[in-house]
Parts: sequence; C-alpha cells; structure tokens
Amino acid sequence: MKRICLVCQNVDCKSRGSEEIMKELQQRVADQGLTDLEVKPYLCFGACQEGPNVVLYPEKSWYAGVKKEDLDDIMKHIAGGPHVTRLDTIDTSLKELIYQLLETGVF
Ligand code: FES
Repeated sequence: MKRICLVCQNVDCKSRGSEEIMKELQQRVADQGLTDLEVKPYLCFGACQEGPNVVLYPEKSWYAGVKKEDLDDIMKHIAGGPHVTRLDTIDTSLKELIYQLLETGVF
C-alpha cells in the first residue's frame, strides 16, 4: 500500500498556510525521490483551530499547527526518522475517529 501524507486544505488550515505547506511537502518528496509516498489534500480533519493539520497514513501520525520550520523534522520522519512529538497535540479520541475513517478508504 502506498503511504499517504494528507494536508488539510479547508478554510481554517488554509488561512494558516496549509496550501504552502502541502506544496512544499510535495516538492520535497519529489526532490528526494520518495515514490512510495503521495502528498494529497484532505477536506477537513475536524481540528480546524489546531491547523494546519498533516496526517501520515497508514503510520497514523497526526501533526498539528505545522509551520514551514517544522517541515525538516516531518521529512525526516517520512524518511524513517523519529516521530515529531512536539506536533502531536491532537486529542486521542479525535485521532482515532479520523483514523477509522481513513481505514475505510475515505481520502
Ligand atoms: S480546516 Fe483543517 S482540520 Fe478543519
């Protein structure tokens, strides 16, 4: 299964720069030749006040309040490095709900 990096593109996340974050991630993934991972937009994760929100699937890492300065660490994680704990701030029950949705193949 291809790995997916979902970046919320709804109004709140977008107003905090999620479009730029998605484009930058897409560029970096392409530059590094990471063909097993696709960076895609997502409609809304329901944590709009915590955005920009980025979710890695199937590894189930949810990064909130992502800024451009965080992308180096997120890219390290994508390439096999450590989970970026400081960005993992979302409530467990909401994470589980979204992960269940993703399990059903709703992207
Ligand atoms: S606007 Fe991004 S989670 Fe809702």
